[in-house]
Amino acid sequence: MALKDTIQTLLQQVSGLQAANTEELEALRIKYLSKKGEITALFNEFRNVPADQKRELGQLLNQLRQQTEERINELREKLDESRESREERLDLTRTPDPIALGTRHPLSLVREEIIDIFSRIGFTVAEGPEVEDDKHVYGMLNFAPEHPARDMQDTFFIEKEIGVQKPTDVLLRSHTSSVQTRVMTSQKPPIRVLCPGRVYRNEAISARAHCFFHQVEGLYVDKNVSFADLREALLYFSKEMFGAETKIRLRPSYFPFTEPSAEMDISCNICGGKGCSFCKGTGWVEILGCGMVDPNVLEACGIDSKIYSGYAFGMGVERITNLKYRVKDLRLFSENDVRFLRQFESC
Ligand code: DAH
Repeated sequence: MALKDTIQTLLQQVSGLQAANTEELEALRIKYLSKKGEITALFNEFRNVPADQKRELGQLLNQLRQQTEERINELREKLDESRESREERLDLTRTPDPIALGTRHPLSLVREEIIDIFSRIGFTVAEGPEVEDDKHVYGMLNFAPEHPARDMQDTFFIEKEIGVQKPTDVLLRSHTSSVQTRVMTSQKPPIRVLCPGRVYRNEAISARAHCFFHQVEGLYVDKNVSFADLREALLYFSKEMFGAETKIRLRPSYFPFTEPSAEMDISCNICGGKGCSFCKGTGWVEILGCGMVDPNVLEACGIDSKIYSGYAFGMGVERITNLKYRVKDLRLFSENDVRFLRQFESC
């Protein structure tokens, strides 16, 4: 009995019908219930069924049509429900999620802290260009043209025409001391400035060196500025930055733009001066260079060195940050890895 079998197969099929969206549902309705649908076709066939089977097959066919309609209605309700709930979830009156705020970069935190400490003793901030000329970075700072002191800073020179290597005096500043010359030529003493900024040197990138890093320069020019003033300002800074128990020591050094020149160490803030692997057992760590502004520099900038004197210092922001936060690898500062940066959220 072919018709009965077909109906029974369809009955099974229909109970398992699924539709992922309204298009699929409509396709099902057309397939089974439309004028040209499979069930409608069975009703046509039913006309030729012998009279003695009509009652049984008729009931089966009606059952099939009814179950198909029911299944399709059920699927429609399901789809409507999920659409409604989606619409309900979309609450247009709700305030939007807060924008995820980034964190301050550790180098910015430390730069701001340095500026904050010195601003309390009267320093203001001055900035200068990163692309500089030889005169401001070296010449006016008392570096003679062939002086070996230039070799202390392996400088990036900029080619005037791309690809054509000609000697040029345009360069990426290798230290922020260049801003001293710009300030001293544009302002009259008393001058008390801090010059924070990025500097560039041709160094192979490693955990301890990078081709760019950050410095903060300090400059104070006035009448009767003495080495004792320099020492006192640096001691104040070190205590504010690293704690009241911090000691400093000044070692003689050489910079072309200061005379006398010194390098300053602070008592190791990791072992408290007892000696550890960080300070290589010495109890001291170097943090900056400093000195009395060389009279040649004052004169080159148009300041009368018989009336005025000054002190200057320069420190690496990465170095201070390493000491404060124990960052062991310099490269972390420029990799923008949020796992590193998020650690400074509460600082
Ligand atoms: N410019 C020096 C450097 O990059 C640091 C420095 C030393 C700056 C002594 C100063 C200073 O102003 O007085 O190595």
